[in-house]
Amino acid sequence: MKTENFPKIVSSYNEWDPLEEVIVGDMFNATIPTVEVAVQATIPDAQIDYFKLHAGQQFSEELVGRACRELDDFSRILSDLGIAVRRPEKVKKTIPYSTPHWKMLGGLYSAMPRDSLLVVGDTIIEAPMAWRSRYFETDAFRPLLKEYFHRGANWIAAPKPQLLDATFDKNYDRVTPYLTDRYAVSEFEPTFDAADFIRCGEDIFVQKSHVTNDFGIEWVRRSIGSKYRVHKVDHCDDAPMHIDATLLPLCPGKLMIHPERIKNLPSQFAEWEVRVAPSPAVRPGHTLYMSSAWLSMNVLMLSPDTVVVETHEAEMINFFEKWGFNVVPVRFSNVIRFGGAFHCVTADVRRRGELQNYF
Ligand code: ALA
Repeated sequence: MKTENFPKIVSSYNEWDPLEEVIVGDMFNATIPTVEVAVQATIPDAQIDYFKLHAGQQFSEELVGRACRELDDFSRILSDLGIAVRRPEKVKKTIPYSTPHWKMLGGLYSAMPRDSLLVVGDTIIEAPMAWRSRYFETDAFRPLLKEYFHRGANWIAAPKPQLLDATFDKNYDRVTPYLTDRYAVSEFEPTFDAADFIRCGEDIFVQKSHVTNDFGIEWVRRSIGSKYRVHKVDHCDDAPMHIDATLLPLCPGKLMIHPERIKNLPSQFAEWEVRVAPSPAVRPGHTLYMSSAWLSMNVLMLSPDTVVVETHEAEMINFFEKWGFNVVPVRFSNVIRFGGAFHCVTADVRRRGELQNYF
C-alpha cells in the first residue's frame, strides 16, 4: 500500500509546536501493581507495604473515579481549544496474566500514554516497558494505533522484552545509581519507557533510569535513523524514571530544569535560557502513590507560548507567567496521586511544524 499521498496524521518532532491532535489516557480500573525490582526502585517507600498487600486489586474506587473525571474535564478543555482528543479503549487491568517465565496479579492502567508510546515524526514506537505489570499496557491504545497506521503513520514496536529475572539487577544502587551505573534494569535486553526521552527536533535527549537501559537507548538510536541525534543526559536522580520532571524544553530557547537532578547540563543548551523550577505546592495528607511532588513540572505545552499547569501550583503558574507564557490552569490533584500529570497522560499525535535543528 502506498502512503505518500496521505496528509500526515501522525507528526510531532518536539514538545512545543502547536498541538493539533493528542491521545489522553484513562484511569479506568487502575490497579495496584505487583511489587518487583523495578517497581520497588521508584515508588515511594511509604507505599511498598500497601502495594504488597493489595497488588492486583483496583485502587480506591472513589479516587479512581475522581481521577477519571479530571481526565475527562482536561480532555474537554483541550477539545474546546480546538485540539482533537482521542482516548484509549477501556481495558480491564485486574485480570491476572502470565508468560512461561512469570505471573502478574494484574496490570496497572492506561492513564499514561507518554510512558508507553514514543512519537518521533510520523512514527509511533511501542516501548518495551520494564514493569511486568505494564506488559500489555499498549493494548488499550491498539485501536488508535491501527487507525493511525491505516491513515499513513508508521507503527513499530520495540522487541518485546522477556522480563526474566536476568532483566533486573536486584542489587541496584538505591542512592547513587548514576555514579555506579547500577540501575534496576540490567543490560540483558533492551528496555525503555518512552517518557525517558524528550524531543527537540533533530536532537533527542534521554536519561538512563530504573526502566531504561543503554541497550534500549541504542535500539531507539538505530531505529529512528541518522536524521536524529540521541544524547544521554548526565543526571543525578537517586530514583530516575521519566525525564519530564527533570528537564523540560518549553519552546526554542527556553528550558526548565529540576533544581537538583541535572549533574551537567547537556552542552546543546548552552545558549538557551535555563530556569530552575520552583518547589512544588505543599499538599498535606495528599498521598502520592508512585512519584514525588515534582510532577508539578510535568506540564504540557499547547504551543510555544501556552502551557497547561495544575491549578494548585501557584508558584509554578507565577513562574510561567513571569517568563512570558500564557497559562491554562487545570485541576489535576487526583490524577497526580497516580504518578503523572499533563505531560505523562498525553501522547502527541500531531503538532503543526517540521523537523528542525534548534541548536
Ligand atoms: N519520577 C519523577 C518523579 O517522581 C516523575 O518526580
